Amino acid sequence: MSDATAKKEERRKFQAIKGTRDILPPETELWNRVEQTAHEVFSTFGFGEIRPPIFEPTELFARAVGGETDIVSKEMYTFEDRPYELEELPWAETGTYIKNLKDLMQKGMIPRDEATLPELEKAWEEFESTPWNADGSMPGNVLQLAEHVELLKSVIQKGHKISLRPEATASVCRAYIEHNMQQLPQPIKLYYTGPMFRRERPQKGRYRQFYQIGAEILGGTDAPAIDAEVIEMLMTFFDKVGLQGATLYINSIGHNADNCRRGYVATLKAALEKVKDQLGPDSQRRIDTNPLRVLDSKLESEQPIIATLPHIADHLCDECKAHYAAVKRQLELRGVLYQENWRLVRGLDYYMRTTFEITAPGLGSQNAVCGGGRYDGLVELLGGPPTKGIGFAIGEDRLILSLQESGKGQAQQGRDVYIAWMGERAYAAAIRAAKDLRNAGFSVELPPLEQKFGKALSQADKLGAKYALILGDNEVSEALWTLKTLSTGEQEKFPEPELIDFLRNQKSPS
Ligand code: HAM
Repeated sequence: MSDATAKKEERRKFQAIKGTRDILPPETELWNRVEQTAHEVFSTFGFGEIRPPIFEPTELFARAVGGETDIVSKEMYTFEDRPYELEELPWAETGTYIKNLKDLMQKGMIPRDEATLPELEKAWEEFESTPWNADGSMPGNVLQLAEHVELLKSVIQKGHKISLRPEATASVCRAYIEHNMQQLPQPIKLYYTGPMFRRERPQKGRYRQFYQIGAEILGGTDAPAIDAEVIEMLMTFFDKVGLQGATLYINSIGHNADNCRRGYVATLKAALEKVKDQLGPDSQRRIDTNPLRVLDSKLESEQPIIATLPHIADHLCDECKAHYAAVKRQLELRGVLYQENWRLVRGLDYYMRTTFEITAPGLGSQNAVCGGGRYDGLVELLGGPPTKGIGFAIGEDRLILSLQESGKGQAQQGRDVYIAWMGERAYAAAIRAAKDLRNAGFSVELPPLEQKFGKALSQADKLGAKYALILGDNEVSEALWTLKTLSTGEQEKFPEPELIDFLRNQKSPS
């Protein structure tokens, strides 16, 4: 390879990592409009915004989403964080470090992943069996204490396993517990927007860094009206952003009891065992790990077999059946159209009762633009009080794609005004005009160097400007500014103070 080629190669080296991408103007304008609409619509339903961190302890997602799910077992970006410096911990000043063990654990300063937990438990047991002096002071056996301390130090120095968030429901529940939100008036309604990370095979509408707009309702009642209202909010949002052809699918997957979902899963498993030979390897594996997920299969050859499997609706307990019927009634009351889909089981473990998904056109095989459902019990599973929960997450990338495909995604391009100036005196006026116009909310291009008017106008055209404000010696001496409408070529003269009023009246409401 010649030196020149090698240099070229070197220069070409950096590209966005597979499955990630840059979202650029003018498309970002559409993203902003979508997010702005979410802020507006969700706040009319009483939701406030939460911004949880982008990484959390791996264990949080393993516990919430489920260790056997594809998301946790195959798709998370997980790494070991650098361990805490021992000086960061409240050690030596008190000498009661082991006593502080539980406190440190709660503060998340001691790694709690599967590898370190047994060691910690051992240390804790040893500590508890240490004979303390009757007056509560430290035992005389300094040597034994020193062993505990060394063990603890070695555990702490291992570092934490953390993961980039694959979803945000787990984080919102963690935050609910951490900030004692159960003490506030219930329910708590929170929404979020931001990137999520899953190491999936990239394709149209599927990325390794993708964006969600999600909302969660925590605490209070599990009244079916809550389920229906959250779906109503979602459909209102889709309507406001101009999404066309969206279809809402709903289902109920009951709750985890023998007379409900657990019973159904056993029946389903037995039915799947009988047809095991006709299923692909993924589904065969899932018979043992997560039989419900077989229903989710898109494999063509499995479809006729799946169609013969027992339906969960026939196995729901009376309460879940009544809840589901009431959710449907509540949706009808709100004029929300839905289709039932008995195969809608979702790929995360925390769901119970209501599940829903929305598909949109123009997306190919990755056509789910939103997924959600009820997850009573998740907060408790994460160490909080028994709490009802329901929510959804919209795949923003897919929503944007669908809007673009239907022609609703046209971002407003170009500037409002291009200032074509010539001469020193005109430049001073141009700077003033740019400042005033920008303050009034117009987008303005002020060329940094003088240009001939012909060149300036063609530049204005290229940038898609609506108007050119022409400022030359004549304009300055007459104190009358020339405004050219670029689409028609019409020119009008205005005294400086009237220009902004004129433009304001022309601007179509956005
Ligand atoms: P999910 O179904 O895993 O649910 O994701 C929700 C939406 O995120 C999907 O419908 C899809 O539009 C989008 N999405 C997922 N993975 C990707 C990807 N790799 N690339 C592009 N878009 C993707 C959840 O995440 C739950 N936390 C939703 C929820 C909130 N349930 C209750 N509350």
